[in-house]
Amino acid sequence: MIQEFDAIILGAGAAGLMCAIEAGKRGRRVAVLEHAERAGNKILISGGGRCNFTNLVCLPENFISANPHFCKSAFARYTPADFIALVEKHGVPYHEKTLGQLFCDRSAKDITTLLEAECREAGVRIVVNTPVRNVLKKATGFVVEAGDHEFHAPAVVVATGGLSIPKMGATGIGYVLAKQFGIKVRECRPALVPLTFNDANTKSYTNLAGVSTEVIVSHGQQSFREKMLFTHRGLSGPAILQISSYWKKPDAIVIDLLPGRQATAELVQSNSTRNRAGATPVFRALFPARLADRWLDVHAPPDWTNRGLASLESNLHRWEIKPGGTEGYEKAEVTAGGVDTSELSAKTMEARKVPGLFFIGEVVDVTGHLGGFNFQWAWASGYCAGQAL
Ligand code: FDA
Repeated sequence: MIQEFDAIILGAGAAGLMCAIEAGKRGRRVAVLEHAERAGNKILISGGGRCNFTNLVCLPENFISANPHFCKSAFARYTPADFIALVEKHGVPYHEKTLGQLFCDRSAKDITTLLEAECREAGVRIVVNTPVRNVLKKATGFVVEAGDHEFHAPAVVVATGGLSIPKMGATGIGYVLAKQFGIKVRECRPALVPLTFNDANTKSYTNLAGVSTEVIVSHGQQSFREKMLFTHRGLSGPAILQISSYWKKPDAIVIDLLPGRQATAELVQSNSTRNRAGATPVFRALFPARLADRWLDVHAPPDWTNRGLASLESNLHRWEIKPGGTEGYEKAEVTAGGVDTSELSAKTMEARKVPGLFFIGEVVDVTGHLGGFNFQWAWASGYCAGQAL
């Protein structure tokens, strides 16, 4: 069956739904095609089920892109305050957890319910269980082949997200479509993802799974001060997820396990406690006991001279490890890389080479830090395209 619309949006995720709402409010006949059985699956699992839907302070430096200026126009046009106004319009209770991160008080379902209500009001048709197979450009406009149907429209918006969490519905179709239309795609990689130990670290630290401590983790000029978590296979927690977006094999990351504090000062001053037994209570006061003990197992100096203690202290502040890899797209919150921003209008997200074809959300080479930034990019880029349809 052939169905005619003014715009067809591929993917009913955060970006696609926002775009549909804005275009629908402007009187466009909009269809959103989604291969899952419902819209917004990823929103439902986001933020530990509470959806960190935006961040109060959203700056270009919170995003990674080959062109760090590209996102500025969209963020100026659709701000965190705009999304907060929408949340408040629907009476969704929320709170600031930390560092400007806004979460739902109840559940992420409040956000999908809000988006679906806005879609209904704007007359948007969400067509679920409909996998997009192909998009063709004909003289009369675009033809989208999806499920058993053909959808025709003068505009198509690709909002199919990235490669992260295939079991939640991620497919690489957005990148395939971009390439099919001669649009450059920058190399993709898992981001906001746990890192795995290399073989040497595996032996020393895997029995620390579950231990968490605040660190500063650095890679090049980039550093983050947040919690780090030991896992069965490596390192995770917000600090590691953040740095993973910058890390590339075979680089090292540097971890300060005791930011702004000294562990050995007490031992340096008192000769009587200069041994492993004396160091243990000092370290246990600073770290979870399992980490304190393991760290001393691995790093205790051969002698407890001032030089030995200086080296123990320095190892704590400059723990340099070369991760073996990442946990991959199965565990990555987002995909870094994607549709090259030089191919798109920063104002409308329309492809320069293919009028009528738009790319929004995670499929574009704009990747946010942890903290609500990725949803803000989805809302803002979706809004901009929605205004142009
Ligand atoms: P998204 O992936 O949401 O949507 C794409 C849609 O396209 C999906 O519904 C998919 O099923 C559909 N699709 C794909 N291929 C298709 C095809 N061939 N045919 C039809 N439909 C197709 N961000 C944040 O800011 N705060 C947070 O709290 C979190 N938390 C979080 C937790 C976890 C576990 C993950 C995996 C990710 C997050 N994120 C996050 C990241 C955030 O979820 C992500 O950046 C946005 O969902 C991206 O929105 P998009 O609409 O671009 O893609």
